[in-house]
Amino acid sequence: MKTIQQAINFVLVLLVFSQVISSLGIDLDEEMYETRDVSTAFRLLDFDTYYGSDSGLDERSGSLHLILNDEDLDDLEKDSPSTKVIIVTIHKYLTNSSLEIFAKEDSKVEGVVVLHGTDQEGSVDTAPDHFSPFSKIPQQFSGLHTSDETEWEWNPNSNLVFYTKWNFPIVYLSLEDESSEILKHAQENKEQDKTKYGISITGQMYGQYDSKVCLRRKYCDPIGGKSVYSFLGGQYNDSKPTTVVHCSIDSISMFPNYSPGYDSDSSSIAVLLAVFDALTDTAKTGAGMDWASTDRQIMFGFWEGEKWGHLGSKRFLKEVEEFKCTDYSSGKKSCETPYRYSLQFTEIDLNNIDESIELTQIGLPSTDLNAYHLYAHVERNDKEDESIELMQYIDDVSKNSSSESIQVTTISQASTSTPGIPPSSTESFIQQNSDIVSIVLSDFNEHFTNPYYGSVFDNGDLKNITQLVSVANLIARTIYAKALGITNLTTIPLELVVDESLLETLIDCLVTDNHCEFYENYFDSEYGEEYVTNYPGVYSEDTGRLQSIFIRNFLQTKTFPASFGSCESDSDCKEDEDGDDIYADCIKKKCYKRAAYYHQAYSQDIEYNTDTSKYDIDSKASNVWTESRWANLSCKSFLFADTTKDTLLFALGLAFIIIYYIIYFLFRKFSIKKFFNVKSLKQN
Ligand SMILES: *[C@@H]1O[C@H](CO)[C@@H](O)[C@H](O)[C@H]1NC(C)=O
Ligand SMILES: *[C@@H]1O[C@H](CO)[C@@H](O)[C@H](O)[C@H]1NC(C)=O
Ligand SMILES: *[C@@H]1O[C@H](CO)[C@@H](O)[C@H](O)[C@H]1NC(C)=O
Ligand SMILES: *[C@@H]1O[C@H](CO)[C@@H](O)[C@H](O)[C@H]1NC(C)=O
Ligand SMILES: *[C@@H]1O[C@H](CO)[C@@H](O)[C@H](O)[C@H]1NC(C)=O
Ligand SMILES: *[C@@H]1O[C@H](CO)[C@@H](O)[C@H](O)[C@H]1NC(C)=O
Repeated sequence: MKTIQQAINFVLVLLVFSQVISSLGIDLDEEMYETRDVSTAFRLLDFDTYYGSDSGLDERSGSLHLILNDEDLDDLEKDSPSTKVIIVTIHKYLTNSSLEIFAKEDSKVEGVVVLHGTDQEGSVDTAPDHFSPFSKIPQQFSGLHTSDETEWEWNPNSNLVFYTKWNFPIVYLSLEDESSEILKHAQENKEQDKTKYGISITGQMYGQYDSKVCLRRKYCDPIGGKSVYSFLGGQYNDSKPTTVVHCSIDSISMFPNYSPGYDSDSSSIAVLLAVFDALTDTAKTGAGMDWASTDRQIMFGFWEGEKWGHLGSKRFLKEVEEFKCTDYSSGKKSCETPYRYSLQFTEIDLNNIDESIELTQIGLPSTDLNAYHLYAHVERNDKEDESIELMQYIDDVSKNSSSESIQVTTISQASTSTPGIPPSSTESFIQQNSDIVSIVLSDFNEHFTNPYYGSVFDNGDLKNITQLVSVANLIARTIYAKALGITNLTTIPLELVVDESLLETLIDCLVTDNHCEFYENYFDSEYGEEYVTNYPGVYSEDTGRLQSIFIRNFLQTKTFPASFGSCESDSDCKEDEDGDDIYADCIKKKCYKRAAYYHQAYSQDIEYNTDTSKYDIDSKASNVWTESRWANLSCKSFLFADTTKDTLLFALGLAFIIIYYIIYFLFRKFSIKKFFNVKSLKQN
């Protein structure tokens, strides 16, 4: 009897109490806000295992715990937090030794937030002396020197931290964004109340095992994109010797969405595009210039996904040699299965590609010689002597071009103590055809001089545009002389120099501004993310990365600047004005005659099977990189119930209960039973 009455009254008290709480505005959800531009360290898988962060199926949350200096780290190591924490730190502490402290079994670390950039008070995440999380021997297992007994550490600055398996999510927040709040909150937590502000992270990125297993079970997708290639003059001639001038177009980073890749390899892209611009400008090459009638043919190659086992160059070379179309479209213009929008590549004769000049990491001024200097690397094989001759030819072009009005880079042969050419697409060409004469030009000699290879710090802070112009001038003049077979190198036109302001614009677009005005000439400006990423992403048949689209459209409109007709899509550009069948593409709602081509860039060891909707894996496969699927990526910060408010609430609640009991006992005296008529309640 009495207990029921007390229970009912207690419920009533609770109801009133919760009303009081909500009227005070203590609502956790209202204090939450989502941070935009959150980017995560991806979970990536190769053929044998997986790497990177794990954001698990469930949300991970904890109070903010700041690690900005060594003292903070020591404190964390000595004195593990008693409740769950999310570490807020900077790149300097993305090292194995600090990660080991975070990952200790009893450490209560639920995740790591890496801050980057500059807020009102300046840069918090200043560049460490060096930061390179990837391999010391990039592309070792897809390159030429896999079985070398002496492994040459091209990238000695690497801390290899990418290869660690983390059991918590790691996200990247740009300080320009709301995350400066996070820094403030973390500081407040540190100075006052350790658990006032918290953060929760979801990502659902937790792929395990390896690429074989995940492709079969469909929880990952292959890394890949689109390469682009073109022939100077826009026409392929299968009976001409061909020089391929090329670079890779992708970059890597711990946080793939933030991979500006200035030195590796946006600087090479910008230089080659500026070269292409100069060579297609008859004011620079001479009015009668006709690239179709030159002795030598020049092919430009921009390979995608090279950092992930030479995806672009390997698939291109493989398909040029042995592509089988099982279902042609009408007129055999394209292939339906496997889908290829153009079959131009099947016309290429690989035996005619007898020379290769590649640019890789040409963006930093040489430190040991003068600033306008590059190193030429040659492979130590049967073609070594001829490759050195090619280098000498380029050196002669350089020496004969030197004048007050033209700044031209000088070159010299790289050290012979290295095993041969550095990691580059040229490795794929030599693997395909060991008779190719090749040189790789770079700003480093024996080891990478870029301290930030494969990181967000490779951002062009050290760029020097006049140095890039000098490289581009050398390449433009070399190509001109090569194509025309010029022996008297003083006859290369003095006018043949690249446009410095174009080069500057290209660097700005490719490295820092995805929405630069210049891009609007080539595609709709809304396309693409806010941030610059040169990570290929996962392969998709339908779309390409902004950079691939830009390069294709740039090459095509430079080659054939005259547009015709208006269009919404490529299919509107199948006929010219006279109604004859042609190859053309739709660029900015106008048709342009086709002169540049995309090529699928994903592992040559896998093939999409439309019947099973899965990738078939070659039995001899050894090189397949995949990205674990993810969902609902978010990073929300929130205010844990404030302790002063907590105390106040507790006191209020206590007072309320005391008052309630006083009233209750008073009422009891005046026969509360009658008043509430509990009996009738019970009878009902
Ligand atoms: C960091 O950890 C990874 C994975 O455990 C390891 O491969 C690498 O050698 C470590 N790096 C250093 C500098 O010890
Ligand atoms: C291809 O090149 C050869 C050799 O330079 C030349 O004789 C021929 O006319 C060219 N073909 C076309 C279609 O331009
Ligand atoms: C670029 O490098 C040259 C040669 O070292 C130097 O004279 C020039 O001042 C540099 N330019 C910039 C903008 O740093
Ligand atoms: C110019 O090139 C020729 C080869 O064509 C070479 O013999 C000569 O040494 C070069 N001139 C200079 C100043 O180096
Ligand atoms: C090279 O060309 C220049 C200018 O046309 C000329 O003066 C010079 O004599 C030529 N040199 C040789 C070796 O033919
Ligand atoms: C993402 O979150 C929504 C609700 O917020 C949920 O319905 C959905 O299942 C989540 N996606 C995945 C793949 O878990």
